[in-house]
Amino acid sequence: MKAIIVTDQAAGTAGMQLTVRPEPQAAINDVVVQVHASGFTWDELTWPPTWTDRLNRDRTPSIPGHELAGVVTALGYGTAGLSVGQRVFGLTDWTRDGTLAEYVAVEARNLAPLPGDVDFTVGASLPMPGLTAWQGLFEHGGLRSGQSVLVHGAAGVVGSMAIQLAREDGAYVIGTGRALHRQTALDFGVHEFVDLENDTLEDVGGVDLVFDVFGGDIARRSAALIRAGGTLVTIAGPTEARPADGLTVDFVVESNRAQLGEIVQRVRDGRLRTHIGNVSTLDDAIATFNGPKRFNGKTIIRVRP
Ligand SMILES: NC(=O)c1ccc[n+]([C@@H]2O[C@H](COP(=O)([O-])OP(=O)(O)OC[C@H]3O[C@@H](n4cnc5c(N)ncnc54)[C@H](OP(=O)(O)O)[C@@H]3O)[C@@H](O)[C@H]2O)c1
Repeated sequence: MKAIIVTDQAAGTAGMQLTVRPEPQAAINDVVVQVHASGFTWDELTWPPTWTDRLNRDRTPSIPGHELAGVVTALGYGTAGLSVGQRVFGLTDWTRDGTLAEYVAVEARNLAPLPGDVDFTVGASLPMPGLTAWQGLFEHGGLRSGQSVLVHGAAGVVGSMAIQLAREDGAYVIGTGRALHRQTALDFGVHEFVDLENDTLEDVGGVDLVFDVFGGDIARRSAALIRAGGTLVTIAGPTEARPADGLTVDFVVESNRAQLGEIVQRVRDGRLRTHIGNVSTLDDAIATFNGPKRFNGKTIIRVRP
């Protein structure tokens, strides 16, 4: 099968190669999926499990890409809940070969059915931002209707999902980003926008929840805005930032079939809009990832036309 591999961490996306790899086999509890569309997160090649397995052993050459929409072609022993020929979407394991390939083996529990009226391109754009936003707001952040949430990177892939889910849940939503992101963030539904280049973050006042995608100094300053009993949730890795009277949670998103179902249903209802910046093909993917402009929004690779 055709696949994109990486072998050299220092080279980043410039080190990607389009090559031919053996088709994956379905292990116990796996399905094999023919990938129709693949999602790639722009800084994936900086994530440790792109390069090493769970025992920190080199696993290169590895195939990046962790989101997919496609069709099940084979079932492993003990696989539950999915059938050959079924349309699916979901998130693949960080330490296994990913979705920038014609086929991928993935544990069935990481996938959900993709309804027939949802395009594969849209399906592949939902798992990472949708699940990350859902888990950050509701599982780790405990967001409740009437509370206020500060969402950093509001015009980005994860931030734009978080805004919409929080607003639908009845929260007051303040988004941040660069000056040029203001209109995008407003279009996705923020009540207020803080331009981190020109405005003063501290003018926001108190909030119940911060959804952080940056870490560093922004996370530290945001922690000081959190009301008693509130939470700082970050997806940017471990942080020393702590609210004076509250919790900090850093987490890595996990796949979840029920949550994928909730997310795709909102897309079908028109309650949730995905943020796709660019669509390319497997043949053109490396040029796209190395192109002069990093698009605002998710890059989706159509593996099958
Ligand atoms: N822990 C987890 O489970 C998890 C899950 C998903 C994603 N992530 C990570 O979360 C991060 C965000 O992912 P994403 O896909 O949402 O990325 P993204 O689409 O690039 O979103 C980030 C947004 O923040 C903006 N931004 C970046 N630096 C800024 C700054 N200094 N001031 C103001 N705005 C700034 C970006 O604008 P520009 O494009 O103009 O820079 C973009 O609009 C990534 O590092 C990703 O790896 C973690």
